[in-house]
Amino acid sequence: MTSPEIPRKLPSQAIAAKIFHAGNIISLFIMITSGLQIYNANPVFGGRGGLTIFPLFTLGGWLAGGRHWHFAAMWLFSLNLFCYGIYIVVTQRWKNRFVSDKDIKALQKTQNHQRLNYAWHRIIYTAIIPILLLAIFTGIGMYKPAQFSWIVDIFGSWQALRIVHFASVPIVVVFVWFHWRLGQNVGGNALTKSMFW
Ligand code: HEM
Repeated sequence: MTSPEIPRKLPSQAIAAKIFHAGNIISLFIMITSGLQIYNANPVFGGRGGLTIFPLFTLGGWLAGGRHWHFAAMWLFSLNLFCYGIYIVVTQRWKNRFVSDKDIKALQKTQNHQRLNYAWHRIIYTAIIPILLLAIFTGIGMYKPAQFSWIVDIFGSWQALRIVHFASVPIVVVFVWFHWRLGQNVGGNALTKSMFW
């Protein structure tokens, strides 16, 4: 993932894209840290006395505090994602913003590092969207298990549902790392900054 040449002229980002991006970062940060607080109350891995998360990475102080944060931020997180969905349809951004067959072909054929970084970057930021939708889906199953018992049924057991929901944490953490590194490789600091300012 080295970057031999970084383009000098970078596209300026749409203000709406920056707002959705910031909304994602803030809400995901709260969802992860409050979720880990909830997890600590009764770890899905090992039960009480099982594998707990260092308090520095948790939010809420105790189970009820964590749940309050989690259930407040879930609105911010899901409405932000929902509005982003409308935005990419209305602006037709979905047509060229996400991974395409050209990226897959590039992975198979090109030796150009810049093109490979670009293709990988498009793959991972496209792939995170279904993961986030899965977090919402499994979260709804845990939030209203009586009304959405069919969601629990899909996963076979409450334990499996919890594990799939929990899995969004390591996936998002790993995603953030690669998103940042590949963004740097594709467009350097200027590209990263353009997404924020
Ligand atoms: C809008 C979507 C979401 C909803 C509706 C939701 C809902 C829930 C619910 C109901 C619980 C269990 C609370 C309890 O037992 O008291 C939970 C736990 C948890 N959530 Fe979410 N959540 C959502 C998104 C996320 C996201 C995006 C993440 C992280 C990326 C996340 C991470 C966690 C974690 C780590 C736990 C603890 C899992 C466990 O030990 O059972 N959640 N969530």
